[in-house]
Amino acid sequence: MKKIFVTGGAGYIGSHVVKALGERGLEVLTYDNLSTGHAEAVLHGQLVTGDLADRALLRKTLSEYHPDAVIHFAAHIEVAESVANPLKYYRNNTLNALNLWEVLRELRLSNVIFSSTAAVYGIPQDNPVTEETALAPINPYGASKMMSERLLADLAAAEKGFDYVALRYFNVAGADPQGRIGQKYRNATHLITRALKTAKGEYDRLQIFGTDYATPDGICIRDYIHVDDLAAAHLAALDHLAGGCGSDIFNCGYGHGYSVREVVDVARRVTGVDFCVEEAPRRAGDPPALVADSGRLRAATGWKPRHDDLEFIVRTAWEWERQLA
Ligand code: UFG
Repeated sequence: MKKIFVTGGAGYIGSHVVKALGERGLEVLTYDNLSTGHAEAVLHGQLVTGDLADRALLRKTLSEYHPDAVIHFAAHIEVAESVANPLKYYRNNTLNALNLWEVLRELRLSNVIFSSTAAVYGIPQDNPVTEETALAPINPYGASKMMSERLLADLAAAEKGFDYVALRYFNVAGADPQGRIGQKYRNATHLITRALKTAKGEYDRLQIFGTDYATPDGICIRDYIHVDDLAAAHLAALDHLAGGCGSDIFNCGYGHGYSVREVVDVARRVTGVDFCVEEAPRRAGDPPALVADSGRLRAATGWKPRHDDLEFIVRTAWEWERQLA
């Protein structure tokens, strides 16, 4: 596998994967409409500015490039927005994925890595969550990703030689340790980014959503994974496909979680700012705890985390955040 086609490679996670592909010496073409991505975040290979809805451009780009593997990130990712505007999510996430799968099939291209999410599990009964856990998304974002996964699974079952790996991400955070790329959205909703922007003075306080959950300190628990470890999981998935191991689905997380309050403590320590924190009502659609059982990823691919350290995650995110305007 030498030539990789990456949709959404100018986005937060995509750009870290493009960086990792480049470090491995692979050839990369990023296809991104730059709606939330940034051209300067593409540190390696070429960038084609295009939309997945533009099937003619997609087909032309793919048939000329003829990649050995395709990594599909391009999607909308805000849960609250998906509840308010579900069709936007089904169109961009599910229908555009369908466009991509159809073009891949027409061109007889295989080896897809799909960017999925723990949101497909909804509110799981048990933690850590394995891949066998029933899929029961509780918002259109999770449902849109679940459907794209299902389309892939059905296609793989029907087409001999078409293989894919779906990676279900838990809470991705942190930034390039060299400070070149990181999270850069107009609207920061993710906890760590939000906490750091509060430390920077962009917000006057950080709200803790819900303090009455059935968790040790009553506060939501999440499994935060450094974006470079997640990028390494994509390389491991590529090797898995290259090795002819067939299609599979892997959870991506460390297997242990932190409460929002623990994250706040680390953010205060790393930034040296005792920013204001306020207890607030629950946020709709938040599962109490979401921790990955990543045993399958580890066993099948040999993936091992290198940055399983919340302080490192927050420090790299802070170094990135500080140099943003
Ligand atoms: N939180 C706060 N205050 C904030 C922001 C978040 O208390 O200002 C809490 C949330 O309630 C939650 C935790 O911090 O308990 C993490 O919230 P994030 O918004 O950072 O992330 P989510 O867990 O909601 O979402 C992540 C991904 C989604 C994915 C989801 C799976 O960002 O893409 O996990 O449940 F769908």
